[in-house]
Amino acid sequence: MLAAGGINAALGTRDPEDSWQQHFADTMKEGYYLADPDTVELLVREAPAAVLELDDWGCEFARTEDGRIDQRYFGAHKYRRTAYAGDYTGRAIIETLAAKADERRIPIQEHQYVSRLLVADGRCFGALAFDIYSGERTVYLADAVILAAGGHTRLWRRSSSRRDENTGDGMWLALTAGAQLADMELVQFHPTGMVHPETWAGTLVTEAVRGEGGHLLNASGERYMQRYDPDRMELSTRDRVALANYTEIAEGRGTPNGGVYLDISHRGKDFILEKLPRMYRQFLEAQMLDISETPMEVAPTAHYSMGGVIVDPETHATNVEGLYAAGEVTSGVHGANRLGGNSLAEVLVFGRRAGEAAAAYSGQIRMALRAPDVIEAAVADLDSFVKEGDELTRPLQRAVRNTMWEHCGVVRSEENLTAGLERLHTIRERAAAVDVRPTSEGWQDLAIALDLRSTLLAAEATLRGALARRETRGAHFRADYPDKDPAMRVNFVLSLNETGELQIERQPTSPVREDLRTWLDDAEYTVAGRLLE
Ligand code: FUM
Repeated sequence: MLAAGGINAALGTRDPEDSWQQHFADTMKEGYYLADPDTVELLVREAPAAVLELDDWGCEFARTEDGRIDQRYFGAHKYRRTAYAGDYTGRAIIETLAAKADERRIPIQEHQYVSRLLVADGRCFGALAFDIYSGERTVYLADAVILAAGGHTRLWRRSSSRRDENTGDGMWLALTAGAQLADMELVQFHPTGMVHPETWAGTLVTEAVRGEGGHLLNASGERYMQRYDPDRMELSTRDRVALANYTEIAEGRGTPNGGVYLDISHRGKDFILEKLPRMYRQFLEAQMLDISETPMEVAPTAHYSMGGVIVDPETHATNVEGLYAAGEVTSGVHGANRLGGNSLAEVLVFGRRAGEAAAAYSGQIRMALRAPDVIEAAVADLDSFVKEGDELTRPLQRAVRNTMWEHCGVVRSEENLTAGLERLHTIRERAAAVDVRPTSEGWQDLAIALDLRSTLLAAEATLRGALARRETRGAHFRADYPDKDPAMRVNFVLSLNETGELQIERQPTSPVREDLRTWLDDAEYTVAGRLLE
């Protein structure tokens, strides 16, 4: 949970005119109408109570002078709606939830890698996992399983995710259990990731920097957002700011390290230490750079999977009985582009809903399902990975990341995506010969080999979705199709057929309810002439 800058809820602290309906409209418009309206409505209606509950549980949100939860600007919101704890909101929320789990004595199993969900007769009854240090295997038997495994943005060379998370493993687990995915091509590139040193490249530079008044400048010192979105400047939609940054760099107006400048120094050190303490430390630690005196260098970084497992809006149940999913691993809330600050709200609102629905389902089950043959097959699958071979997992993982960065990045085209699929095919062939055995460090190689298997499937789903979506919409920029196509206001649904191959089909999106339609102002948007390959 690296979202740092804040969590959205129409509390109306700073702007009393705000409402859940306006939050609904901002989310639908930002998602270019590919989000599911029912899911979005649940999110925006329930986010305020979720934030207030966290506050009750001790989460240290920033306050206004009169003691209310403060709210800052984030891009593409009509009002100030983003509640925050400095620039470490995700961490503050995790700490609050972990303390609550501890207080309620909820057991947490550490270091477990889930290799497969257990499914028989269309019903999920648990998971097989191994301990990444000891290798010990455990069969977890359960009436219901909730998948909360994150997205697939670590498939890109530059990503805001940590090294071994968001590898697409949640999507692999869901697909092989019989669930369906949607819109895997819709991946958000956050406009501002670090560019150097290489070990830090991609690390998030929070949108809160722009929310608190940061300026984007090119190498000539020009505040170029004036040319891309003069009304909203640095607080334009994430897709537009990411494309602007990409274009400035690609057209040769970037910094020596291949970025653009993000400058907050005019706000002064005291302000920065209060509002952006983590950013201050991050740049000192990584580059010995004092951001209260010197601009940062930033560039787009893969940040969030808008697509993922298809779930029922209210319960977050998948189409596999007993299997639920919540958070970034799912689709439905964000459409073609995510409003900054909505991911933390999503986790709270739908984590609760999925938990309650799974508990209710468990309560009404009369007979627990156990299928020894399914468990044996899952164990055999794990065994099949442990072998000597000529290939190493990390270099192959790196090869996928380079492929996705070079062929399926901020700007895409038919020719480049097709070449990406070919490169992926070669990597898949090599992956059959990976060397996996325990080392003095434990069973990490096995975990990475399984990640690689998931990554290859998630990458194929993404490339094929990106080829199928012959239009530009939100975060998906096609240089060869630079406009939005009304016929593409659809979701691309992915599933595995009997022989384990990916199938992709179109599904129409749901209409917005009459009473909410009046909140949407459907201004047309084109990026023609501004795209660069
Ligand atoms: O920029 C950020 O702090 C990220 C927030 C988000 O992705 O919601």
